Amino acid sequence: TDSKKELLLKAHEESLELFHHILLNTKIGEQALAYLTDRGLTREVIETFGIGFAPRERTMLHQYLIGKDYQPTLLKESGLFVERDNGELLDRFYNRIIFPIRNQQGKVVAFSGRIFEVDDHEDGPKYLNSPETYLFNKRNVLFNYDKARAAIRREKEVVLFEGFMDVIAAWQAGVQNGVASMGTSLTNEQIHMLDRVTDHVLIAYDSDNAGIEAAKRAADLLSEQTDFDIEILSFSEGMDPDDFIKENGAAAFKELLSHGRTTLFGFKMRYFRRSLNLANESERLGYIEKILTEMLTITSAVEREMYFKQLAAEFDVSLDSLKEQFQKYFYEQR
Ligand code: GTP
Ligand code: MN
Ligand code: MN
Ligand code: MN
Ligand code: MN
Repeated sequence: TDSKKELLLKAHEESLELFHHILLNTKIGEQALAYLTDRGLTREVIETFGIGFAPRERTMLHQYLIGKDYQPTLLKESGLFVERDNGELLDRFYNRIIFPIRNQQGKVVAFSGRIFEVDDHEDGPKYLNSPETYLFNKRNVLFNYDKARAAIRREKEVVLFEGFMDVIAAWQAGVQNGVASMGTSLTNEQIHMLDRVTDHVLIAYDSDNAGIEAAKRAADLLSEQTDFDIEILSFSEGMDPDDFIKENGAAAFKELLSHGRTTLFGFKMRYFRRSLNLANESERLGYIEKILTEMLTITSAVEREMYFKQLAAEFDVSLDSLKEQFQKYFYEQR
């Protein structure tokens, strides 16, 4: 019912206020705050995103919300607790930095908690998310979509990141049209959310193996679904956008955004080479043929010409033979 939804939203809002207060204003939040400051986050951005801290005791949030007259049945459904065999509720999030996750209206519907102590014996996942609940379906959520929407429309582009620390670091660097999917591959729902506000997507995933694979997958999904213009941002091997900003600063990040993009096709060329040894003749030939088939998807003759020339120069083959082979694929395809 609507009142159940209202109550669950209110419980999340009040939890957020508590976590956030603990991080900023209490002794038990000091270490977590130092961690965030160390990572370069300003107090202003911590406030903008409502970042918080859930302390070690696993009864704090429960007591707090019971004290505000929330019913145990509602709390059980909220995803904020885990239930013991004896029915007792324990706080799901403890000893973690808390990132609120908001829906399209900007209402908190879930949390993600990051482990941060180096010597932490509570090994668990690096990020722990709320489970799927009445409020939270991760397929429908893009981190920061609520706040980014205005900037996406203004910039006529969305920057798609892998992690929420990347979104936050970019925001702090003045790039406010960034969103992140919830640590999974892009869903149709998320693609439609993007489609509603823009037709330009700049993919800025991590430049490690997982991130490059994920970027390829995201690009494929985006191009299957609609006619997005897609570009790619890459970083030094192993780096993510947050690392880049921390190492090089906001101005360098903005410079990269304006002048450091590759076309989707340029990215694909690099992507296909990753698994090949181009010193080997047959792999080299296979690569050229693969690129020529991929070029069938390029509608701009000028862009095709650019890649013909690149291939010709790099592999010391004639433009004519490349074009002849391309024509052959072109007619085979029809
Ligand atoms: P930092 O290490 O804090 O800089 O985070 P990151 O964003 O760089 O993390 P990473 O590149 O490892 O992962 C990208 C995104 O995947 C995160 O923002 C999370 O949404 C998600 N993710 C990463 N690790 C986990 C995990 O252990 N569990 C879950 N559920 N999600 C994760
Ligand atoms: Mn356009
Ligand atoms: Mn990653
Ligand atoms: Mn990362
Ligand atoms: Mn990171």
